[in-house]
Formats: sequence, structure tokens, C-alpha cells
Amino acid sequence: MSEGPTAAGWSARSRGPGESAAIGEALGRLAPDGALILLEGVLGAGKTTLAQGIGAGCGVAEPITSPTYNLILHYRGRRPFTHVDLYRLEDESQLASLDLEEMLGGDGVTCVEWPAFAERHVEPPWARVRITPEDGPEAPRRIEIELAGEGWEKARSALVGLEAGRV
Ligand SMILES: Nc1ncnc2c1ncn2[C@@H]1O[C@H](COP(=O)(O)OP(=O)(O)OP(=O)(O)O)[C@@H](O)[C@H]1O
Ligand SMILES: [Mg+2]
Repeated sequence: MSEGPTAAGWSARSRGPGESAAIGEALGRLAPDGALILLEGVLGAGKTTLAQGIGAGCGVAEPITSPTYNLILHYRGRRPFTHVDLYRLEDESQLASLDLEEMLGGDGVTCVEWPAFAERHVEPPWARVRITPEDGPEAPRRIEIELAGEGWEKARSALVGLEAGRV
């Protein structure tokens, strides 16, 4: 990992799944209540890997699997963690059955892979995570995080701490 804060948020180069999970862990542990974390990136970019870290940060003990076929999976941890994957969503009307609004009003963290259909529900506090593979499936990933709304101070400090190797 490298770089740290930028004008827009935070940016790093993750050299493997473990580093991506550590970034997610900081977000899951320290995100404000009701945070929505949007995970953007091409197929295989490493969105689920980051989501697994977010779940670990929420204190989820059970394995976190990809919700591609379920659309949504709920986990209990120290705080509720919801993992959404809209890759297979056909149109926006299907979103109604997911009760996104209700989750976002609670004290948990919700993350969404392929969030394009959910844009209408995006309200602060949110984090937008863009993952860009550099070259080849095992290559490092560029990870850029934009944070909006109140309550991100602790998460932001932890991300900066990761960069400096302190967390
Ligand atoms: N920072 C990283 N550096 C190198 N490889 C990584 C990194 N993060 C994830 N990977 C690897 O990339 C592969 C795809 O990861 P993952 O399933 O998390 O991607 P995804 O974006 O969720 O894919 P999909 O678009 O199918 O949902 C896995 O083999 C994972 O271990
Ligand atoms: Mg995935």
C-alpha cells in the first residue's frame, strides 16, 4: 500500500488480497452507522475481497461468500453487515424487494458491488471505492476511496495509518 490521502479522499496500491482485506477491515470497523460502501470495478477487480474485509471489520465471524446469485446476504457481527451484489439485477424495480432504505437507517454497514442500479438510494454517509487492476489477474490493484457525509474521521485516520504501516 502507498500514497495515502489525496484531495478527493484516499488512494493506495494494494499488492494482494490481504492488503485489500485490511483496507476493507478499517472501513467496516470504523465507518459511521448506516454507511453505504459502493464497490466499483471490472469483473474480478477484487470487490468481494474488499467486502470480506469490511465484514471482518464489522465483527462477522462466519465466512463471507459472494452474493452474486442471492443479490443480498445479511450477517450478524458486532454490528450488522449487509453485502449486496447487483450484477444480476435486471432493472431497478427489483431493488424494492431488498429493503435498502431500512438497512441504511440502522447502525450497520452495507456494501454494494455493481452499484449502478442503486445510485438513487445513495445518501451520506457513503464511501465510493474504485478498484482498478493494473495488469493481469494477480496484479496489484489501484484503490481509490472517496468519502462523503459525517463520521468518517476514524476510518480516514485508520486508512492513513495503514499507509504508514501503523495499523
Ligand atoms: N489487491 C489484489 N491484488 C491481487 N489480486 C487480488 C487483489 N484483490 C483481489 N484479488 C484476486 O482477484 C480475484 C477476484 O477477486 P474478487 O472475487 O474479490 O473480485 P470481484 O471484483 O468481486 O469479482 P466479480 O466482478 O466477479 O464480483 C481473486 O482471485 C482475488 O484473490
Ligand atoms: Mg464479487
